[in-house]
Amino acid sequence: MSAPLGLYVHWPYCGRICPYCDFNVYLKRLEAPGLTQAILDDLSGWRAVTGPRRLASLHFGGGTPSLMAPADAAAVIEAAERLWGFEASAEIGLEANPAERDRYADFRAAGVNRLSIGVQSLDDAALRALGRDHDATAARAATAAAQAAFDNVSIDLICAREHQTAADWRAELQAALDFGTPHLSVYQLTVEPGTAFAARAARGALDTPDEDAAAVFYEVTQEVCEAQGAPAYEISNHARSAAAQSVHNRLYWEGADWIGAGPGGHSRLGAHAAGGRIAAAAARRPQNYVETVARTGRGVADETVLTAIEEAAERILMGLRLTGGLDRAALRAATGLDVDGTALARLAAEGWLTANGDRVRFSPRGRLLADRLAAELAPET
Ligand SMILES: C[S@@+](CC[C@H](N)C(=O)[O-])C[C@H]1O[C@@H](n2cnc3c(N)ncnc32)[C@H](O)[C@@H]1O
Ligand code: SF4
Repeated sequence: MSAPLGLYVHWPYCGRICPYCDFNVYLKRLEAPGLTQAILDDLSGWRAVTGPRRLASLHFGGGTPSLMAPADAAAVIEAAERLWGFEASAEIGLEANPAERDRYADFRAAGVNRLSIGVQSLDDAALRALGRDHDATAARAATAAAQAAFDNVSIDLICAREHQTAADWRAELQAALDFGTPHLSVYQLTVEPGTAFAARAARGALDTPDEDAAAVFYEVTQEVCEAQGAPAYEISNHARSAAAQSVHNRLYWEGADWIGAGPGGHSRLGAHAAGGRIAAAAARRPQNYVETVARTGRGVADETVLTAIEEAAERILMGLRLTGGLDRAALRAATGLDVDGTALARLAAEGWLTANGDRVRFSPRGRLLADRLAAELAPET
């Protein structure tokens, strides 16, 4: 059996652009024609590169893929089935905005089997401050609609918002858990460079929690989710059972292979020890993407082969996000490299992580500084 392969399809349009978001997004009213056909052609181009494999997952991300016509989502799913075929347990996920809740059942009929809903908050004032195009009543109705149409549902929440207290967050998270949704993604608000929030923060007009306060939000999240049977299996992701964990995201965290189609989609294929790991990125602007596919048969604008050191750094960064930790044996098998032994011993002595045989796991306080600590563990030669 070949190793699992994931497929990511980026749908870059949104009804409006949220002031905190730095994803590759464009207003729906500026939609470039021909994007679905370009994605279908890009998939054919990628099939020639991967050869025959089975898909463990297909994920429609964005942007707001719930703005796609369900028939277009069905066409992508059919093409993926024809080109590669799905494993029996494959996850076919789609990110949805609450505003499109009337169409959720149509996506189920199109072949999607997991929906993740951008709830973000259950507080009307907070949703307005986040620039969302829905209120808390719509977010609740969307979650109910998703849970009626799908067994496998996730909700996204954003905490550590301006003016939010830890007590507010505890109550809001508890209310969200009361939906009984099998999976939750909880993100702390990040002020990303180049966003409207970054401009506001630069003027001193955005007052988000500092690092210490953000740590309290993280601790509240762990405590409440664990008490309610939805423990973290990754820094920002919580599931009520192993079966409810995201198959697609696990492929990223475990360093598997995936193809990214659609504007700005990223791909990773292969391993240094097996002849090299390809890192490809598709053209970001929708019009450029459509033109690149027409010209070359794929949407790729930039393709390199990672060095063993680059690949190891990525695998360490991603693997350590999992509660189960990084598998050093898999890292060595893929790259011929290991974590930096000196840094590992020091970080273990300081209580940031535990190293047990080939498993390295962050402690709860290590998880708060995950990216910084992962960089310290990356090998230098
Ligand atoms: C592509 S969106 C999900 C689908 C849909 N576009 C929506 O917003 O409802 C991915 C998720 O990333 C999270 N996110 C995006 N930017 C963020 C930021 N700056 N800080 C924290 N979370 C963020 C949000 O929770 C969002 O739901
Ligand atoms: S958070 Fe979602 S809806 Fe808002 S701009 Fe980003 S991708 Fe679009």
